[in-house]
Amino acid sequence: MLRYLWIPCLLCGFLLACGGGENPNFANNGASADASSAGPNGKKIFKTHCVACHGVKGDMGVNGAANLNVSELPIRERIQTITHGRMEKGMTPYKGILSPEEIKAVAEYTLTLKG
Ligand code: HEC
Repeated sequence: MLRYLWIPCLLCGFLLACGGGENPNFANNGASADASSAGPNGKKIFKTHCVACHGVKGDMGVNGAANLNVSELPIRERIQTITHGRMEKGMTPYKGILSPEEIKAVAEYTLTLKG
């Protein structure tokens, strides 16, 4: 039984030895990724859920998807549209797929597509 104790010990030592050098870097990467968005990452959500119809730049218009570059819709109505969709026009409702925070983040991201 005692014979096997050295294995976790060795692993521990190994991790500590390696981690010492790399951990600060790790922590930094994590922090900067979070700091830039402070919450859900709207861009990432858009790329995952919305590009199929709206395109990476928001102007692809597959299946009649609105051109988000020219949309004048205010943020509140964007949130409404994303939450409840426009079933009759072909826009998926995201209620239950995305959290309200994620919907807000992606709605804010769509505002940046303008221009
Ligand atoms: C299945 C295709 C499809 C997907 C996926 C989709 N949309 Fe849409 N979206 C549409 C269509 C079609 C319209 C146009 C509705 C209309 O003409 O009223 C629209 C309209 C919108 C509008 C309203 C713009 C305006 O000016 O009226 C916003 C904002 C929007 N989408 C954001 C999103 C976001 C954000 C996502 C991802 C979370 C998304 N959409 C995913 C098809 C899609």
